[in-house]
Amino acid sequence: MSILDTIQQTAAGVVAKLRPDAPPDRLIGRKHGSIGTSLPRIDGPRKVRGEARFAAEVPAAGLTYAALLHSTIARGRIATLDTAAAAQAPGVVLIMTHENAPRLKPPAAFMSDPRAAGASDLPVMQDATIHWNGEPVAVVLAETQEQADHAKSLIVATYEAEPARLSFAQAATRSRQPESVLGEPAIIRIGDAEAALAGAAFQVDLTFHTPRHSHAAIEPHAATVWWEGDRLVIHDATQMLHQTRWTLAGIFGITEEKIRIHSPFVGGGFGGKGLWSHQILAIAASKLAGRPVRMALSREGVFRVAGGRTTTTQRVALGANADGTLAALIHTGTVAMTTHNNCPEQFTFPARHLYAAGSFLLEQRVADMDMLANTFMRAPGESIGTFALETALDELAEAMRLDPIELRRRLEPEQDPTSGHAFSSRHMLAAFEAGAERFGWSQRNPVPRGRREGEWLIGMGVAAATYPYYRMLGGAARVTITRDGYARVATAGHEMGMGTATVQAQAGADRLGLPVEHVTFEYGDTALPAGTVAGGSSQTVSIAAAVAAASAKLIAELLTLAGNDSPLAGLSAGEVEARDGGLGHPEQADRFESYVSILTRAGREEVSAEADAPQPVETQRYSMHSYGAQFCEVRVSAVTGEVRVSRFLGSFDTGRILNPRMAASQFRGGIIMGLGLALMEETEFDERSGRIMNPSLAEYHVPVHLDVPDIEVIWTDIADPHAPLGAHGIGEIGITGVGAAVANAIHNATGRRVRDLPITLDKLL
Ligand code: MOS
Repeated sequence: MSILDTIQQTAAGVVAKLRPDAPPDRLIGRKHGSIGTSLPRIDGPRKVRGEARFAAEVPAAGLTYAALLHSTIARGRIATLDTAAAAQAPGVVLIMTHENAPRLKPPAAFMSDPRAAGASDLPVMQDATIHWNGEPVAVVLAETQEQADHAKSLIVATYEAEPARLSFAQAATRSRQPESVLGEPAIIRIGDAEAALAGAAFQVDLTFHTPRHSHAAIEPHAATVWWEGDRLVIHDATQMLHQTRWTLAGIFGITEEKIRIHSPFVGGGFGGKGLWSHQILAIAASKLAGRPVRMALSREGVFRVAGGRTTTTQRVALGANADGTLAALIHTGTVAMTTHNNCPEQFTFPARHLYAAGSFLLEQRVADMDMLANTFMRAPGESIGTFALETALDELAEAMRLDPIELRRRLEPEQDPTSGHAFSSRHMLAAFEAGAERFGWSQRNPVPRGRREGEWLIGMGVAAATYPYYRMLGGAARVTITRDGYARVATAGHEMGMGTATVQAQAGADRLGLPVEHVTFEYGDTALPAGTVAGGSSQTVSIAAAVAAASAKLIAELLTLAGNDSPLAGLSAGEVEARDGGLGHPEQADRFESYVSILTRAGREEVSAEADAPQPVETQRYSMHSYGAQFCEVRVSAVTGEVRVSRFLGSFDTGRILNPRMAASQFRGGIIMGLGLALMEETEFDERSGRIMNPSLAEYHVPVHLDVPDIEVIWTDIADPHAPLGAHGIGEIGITGVGAAVANAIHNATGRRVRDLPITLDKLL
């Protein structure tokens, strides 16, 4: 059972009128319509023209600008905080510290409640205690950003430091087993894997290390906030609108109805755009100052205040029989975490579902450290778990003198290997085969260091990609048809650049039988029906399920309105389909009436229906995952150890592809982020001070144009009959498997195995 099932079940208590199962989705497999076409981004023109207002760009009368002072110790207390000089600086409006901050309740941390959005449950600026190096200790509000930044530099803080847990190796010696990993058991044991490993014909037993990663979305975190009496208005960059509203209501002791959050445009989320201390501090400071506040984190501020991916050590041990089947699959390890969050980076999840094996030992442990709370970051767990698992599989294939794709053929399970559930839709081998064909895998020289051009050693590698299918409960949608034959589809969804608005307009158009130009998709506002978290690659199907439910209700209402004088008379909602701008019998062309006609005859300007999505029972019945195969070619300099990725191809099996243009962009973006994971990204955490030492994009390296080759992406486009629209999520799978594909290619090129990310040139010399 996943956290999402847990959330779904807990939420079942608070979401009214759940239906037991989703009705069959008529849009699956439909050949005509907007879904499946490459409609360009509908939010694109506004972004290109600069008309799309992001959270840090929203104007407000009397706006003040905030700057944060960050602690320089990891644990202890503020001893003195001298703000006198800062208070005298030009333009200063307010200095807020723990001494004058309003009294606030601690945030409800993510996972503690299905409605919670807090990245941690630490109280925010309520006393002198310091919990991590970088924790905000003062907020300065001024008339301009420059004045706020300058005044902040005049504050003198001294600290009484206490011993802190800053060494991951030491913390790991006192690791503990978490109660659960995202709602699933922290340990899975099937058979005696250690004994099976010891007795296996072929064995690999390897240790991997992956570093911390920091979120580096193009838009730094920001919020513009103000109070209107006892009502709170927030323009935030978030991927969890309603969860943020519920959590803020608890912190500030007001009802949710008094809070409105807008977030129509988000410049990249990747799991990091949740509720951190900066929004809470902005709201508190705005209350104290009685003026609107803009809290736009500096790039350094993002590194100090918003956590990212945690560090891990992982062991993967594989024991294979002579026929190439697995006798034992062991994947265990430890992640760094804090006691004030609950994000244990589910690196064992891929091994739970990918391959058949005679025995399993999958265990996750956590090591408590004094640091910024880690959080979700594009395929948390799966991205780094597949690095370890898929590198180990490559090493096993080499030991067995088997082609790595052939090894995967022999490991293909008939059902989910740990849950025993049937797969809803799994065509991973088809993705491998299509990818191999397209990439020219047969050209690969299986002998490492077997291909050289001048100083460049050339190699090819492959790895599986995988990410679960999730659908969140708690989403609702409203669908409105207007008398002119147009429609509005509304839900508090999130557009973080992935194409949500575009694809949902397409889905709404097909659902209602309208041209896509006649459909408006409204999102990004808590005043709309509740959306779900844009996380877990779940948003597309979560919204689609709510829109399907609302549309079904709307169609029933339209039939009632149409009445007995309509060609539709006598037909029930289940007997009609939406097409050609109206409703009709699927086979009888003359039994049709347009929306314009129905509403005109009824004298109505518009008709609306709102509904909650049905309970996502599909994940309790089936093992539902996205799959893929990542193919990489690298050139490694024999002189400098420099790695250049020269070709990359991702071949995916993620259900039906709703918009090829948006999908390609998601896959490619995930792969590019995976190249960063493989070769450059690393948050340097000083284990003496707990300080992040490279809090800038000059020193925290992400791939730039010159690092990224042409990336080809292809897909099976096979609809999952158990998912709304037949679709699986595609936001995260692109990054999975990339680390291993690159590492395996580097091994093929150089004969060197690097099991420690990122694979920088020093590790290849
Ligand atoms: Mo994703 S890491 O669930 O935004």
